[in-house]
Formats: sequence, structure tokens, C-alpha cells
Amino acid sequence: MAEIIAILNQKGGCGKTTTAVNLSAALALMGRKVLVIDMDPQGNATTGLGIQKNAVEDTIYSVLTGDVPMQNAVVNTEVPGLDMIPSNISLSGAEIELSKEVGYHAILDMAMDGVSQGYDYIFLDVPPSLGILTINCLVAANSIIIPIQAEFYALEGMADLLEAIQLVETRLNSPAPIKGILLTLYDARTRLGRDVYENVKQYFGETEHIFSTTIPRNVKLAEAPSHGKPCVTYDEESKGSRAYLELAGEIINMEDREDNK
Ligand SMILES: Nc1ncnc2c1ncn2[C@@H]1O[C@H](COP(=O)(O)OP(=O)(O)OP(=O)(O)O)[C@@H](O)[C@H]1O
Ligand SMILES: [Mg+2]
Repeated sequence: MAEIIAILNQKGGCGKTTTAVNLSAALALMGRKVLVIDMDPQGNATTGLGIQKNAVEDTIYSVLTGDVPMQNAVVNTEVPGLDMIPSNISLSGAEIELSKEVGYHAILDMAMDGVSQGYDYIFLDVPPSLGILTINCLVAANSIIIPIQAEFYALEGMADLLEAIQLVETRLNSPAPIKGILLTLYDARTRLGRDVYENVKQYFGETEHIFSTTIPRNVKLAEAPSHGKPCVTYDEESKGSRAYLELAGEIINMEDREDNK
């Protein structure tokens, strides 16, 4: 069974999609079978993995509304071992439609039964809100990665995010532990970067794992999506790619530890 990991932070632009695309591609390059599910109506992960979001037949929207089984919406990407389920703006209607269904929190979770066996990892690229799509991601997930952008407002909204995770655990009886906190857009040379890192350590240090890999601000990471490729295949020598490959290594090491338990 796959480990289902939600890349979560309701703050916009903190590197969720960049992480979903590049971490999944890095793990696929290291021999894992990986699926990315684009849960954001913006469809950025879809475009970033080279899929024409408005030309695809089936999207995650058709899956959530019950029109097609999840297996049928899976498309291959250019990266061997990496598949995805695309999304586009049609998904923006899902929040309201799903809210009318009984058990709407668990629609994604239930739809995943048919695909989970075929993968080592399934990454959910979560939209920047705490709405119904995000709650569906939390219910479906086995664990969570929280990317935090190294900027002045980095921890604003974090209490709400942690509360949402907590509520899904207690009220919906669906715990998803935090696998790690990931510092993104990080520049260790600046005072601000170092200060934010210290704050994040103080906030989470005692309770949660902070990945030892940090993701630098790197223009290749921002360029790669316009070529429809993950940065790790677009320019594998770039600093950004090397960071995501290192992060993939860290995730694989966690695997080994869990196997030895
Ligand atoms: N480490 C980085 N270095 C340089 N640019 C980056 C980096 N990470 C992300 N970006 C760029 O910053 C912007 C926001 O990143 P991204 O789309 O990954 O964030 P997001 O959290 O998914 O945003 P949203 O909340 O809108 O879904 C994008 O233009 C992306 O290319
Ligand atoms: Mg995004």
C-alpha cells in the first residue's frame, strides 16, 4: 500500500506545488512508483508535470463526483515511474457540490482504494485554503509535509492549520501525523532566512520533525514549470534539484527506519 502524503499549508505560494512535483519526480528517479494527485483547481502541478490541463479527458473532479473510477483518470508523465491525476478549473465547483453529499469529508479517501496498491507514494498537492478539498486531503492522507516559506509571515496561520489537522484527527477519527516541516525559498545567507529558521525550530522543534534538507530559492525551480518538466529532470545539476533529490533521500531513509521498527 502506498504512503499517502499531503503537501499542506493554506498559505499561498509557499512551495507546495514545487515540492509535490519535484519530490515525487525525485523519488521516481530513485526507483519508487509515485502518483501525484493535483487537488488544486489552479492545476499548477498538472501543468508543471507537462500535462495540458484543459485537454485532458478525466480529472480529479470527475473522480470526486463519481463519474469515473480513479484508475481511469491516471495519466503517465515523462518521468518513468511517475503518474498523475490532473486537475483544472472545473474542480472549483467541487467544494459546493461535494458539501451536499453524505460523508463528503471522505470522498477522496474512498476513491483512492483502487489505486493505492500500485504505488509506493501518493502525493496530494493541496490548494491554499482550509476548505472541503483540503479536509478531503487530510482524511485521505497517512502523513503530512508542511512547506514553510522563509519569510517574515512564515508562521502566520499555522495555529489554524494545526487546529484543522487536530480536528480531522479527533472528530473524523482520521489521524495524519506530520512527517516533516520543510523550509522552502530559504536563503541561509540572509539574516531574515536564519531568523525564520530559528522561529520555526522554536515553534516545532520539540514536537515535530524538521527536515534537515532545506530548499533554497533557485530560479531553475521557478523556470522548470514553463517547460512542462520537474526541475529534477529539466536541470538536474541546479541547486534546487539537488535539494529535492536530497529531500527524497531523507524520505527514503525514513522508510528504512520504519521497516526496522
Ligand atoms: N525554491 C524556490 N525557488 C524559486 N522559486 C520558487 C521556489 N519554490 C517555489 N517557487 C516559485 O514560487 C511560486 C509559488 O510556488 P508554488 O506554486 O510551488 O507554491 P504553492 O504553495 O503551491 O502556491 P499555491 O498556494 O498558489 O498553490 C511559483 O512561481 C514557483 O515557481
Ligand atoms: Mg500550489
